[in-house]
Amino acid sequence: MVEPFVEGIERLEREAASELAAAASVAALEAWRVRFLGKNGILTEQLKRIGTLGTDERPRAGQLVNQVKKRLEDAQALRRAALALAEEEARAAAEAVDVTLPGRGAGVAALHPLSVALRRIEDIFTGLGFLLADGPEVEDEFHNFEALNIPAHHPARAMHDTFYLETGGLLRTHTSTVQIRFMEQHRPPFQIIAPGRVYRSDAPDPTHSPVFHQVEGLVVGEEVHMGHLKATLTAFLEAFFGRRLAVRLRPSYFPFTEPSAEVDIGCLLCQGVGCRVCKGTGYVEVLGCGLVHPAVLTRVDIDPERYSGFAFGMGVERLLMLKEGVADVRLFYENDVRFLSSIR
Ligand code: FA5
Ligand code: MG
Repeated sequence: MVEPFVEGIERLEREAASELAAAASVAALEAWRVRFLGKNGILTEQLKRIGTLGTDERPRAGQLVNQVKKRLEDAQALRRAALALAEEEARAAAEAVDVTLPGRGAGVAALHPLSVALRRIEDIFTGLGFLLADGPEVEDEFHNFEALNIPAHHPARAMHDTFYLETGGLLRTHTSTVQIRFMEQHRPPFQIIAPGRVYRSDAPDPTHSPVFHQVEGLVVGEEVHMGHLKATLTAFLEAFFGRRLAVRLRPSYFPFTEPSAEVDIGCLLCQGVGCRVCKGTGYVEVLGCGLVHPAVLTRVDIDPERYSGFAFGMGVERLLMLKEGVADVRLFYENDVRFLSSIR
């Protein structure tokens, strides 16, 4: 009577052992445990059947079932540990971070090339002892024209394509307005620069933008002359371009300076030999300047018999275009980061 029971238990153990070996995950193992060792599992069923055996056979049968149960439980614990380890290793491999990969880049912001150029220009002039001054971008005819010796109907007004405002003001066409504003408030001697934005209704083209930047310079004192002007501008230009330069003053005309000059530097591209950039002349124009006109000094109650001065005005975009070989002024205003980050 007991032999078929024993054989059944032994078959059951072999079956359980082979299924255990096939369990490929912790989840499959748990299903296996419920099936064979659970409260309603196959082995528990066999334990219940012991009661149907003869009294003298029950101890042996009970012992056998308990031994099988113990072996299956031990085998299950081993398999569970092995599977848990394998799963942990697989997860670690999947989640692994390659610390040798390059970073994504922090995308650090940078100043606009025009801001960098303006700061450089300010640094150079403050190093020469100049102070900074400024004035409003919305101006009146007096400060933009009349006080600068450009009366109404003067032909020089036509050289400035002016934006007039409906309120009667205008957008300053040059930073020379700050000469007047500063001299209304200060007595000589002084030396200032006035960087800022100016506006002209010029049609945009590779060298004209309706908004651009100028840096004005003004030095007034006793016995200030053209030699001071040329020495100051030469020092500035050589510092800005970072090299020795041929600097040439060419006679010109501005209503607010007398004499007036335009400053040319030896062409950076051909070193003065003559090329496309300098149109074969060996020189390129970089700024306008001159000795402050006595009529301008008189207008702000500075005695032109006692004081004299020089003034200059430069286009920041044009200077930076020359320095960095930029072909079109509009690039500074299109905000293409590939262009902006190519200029320092
Ligand atoms: C003036 O504006 C004078 N106020 C300069 C001056 C100051 C002369 C003090 C004497 C004493 P001009 O109109 O030439 O001058 O302009 C000066 C510079 O501004 C030019 O040489 C050029 O570099 C720049 N510029 C003029 N128009 C534009 C424009 N539309 N876009 C970009 N730059 C411009
Ligand atoms: Mg000019």
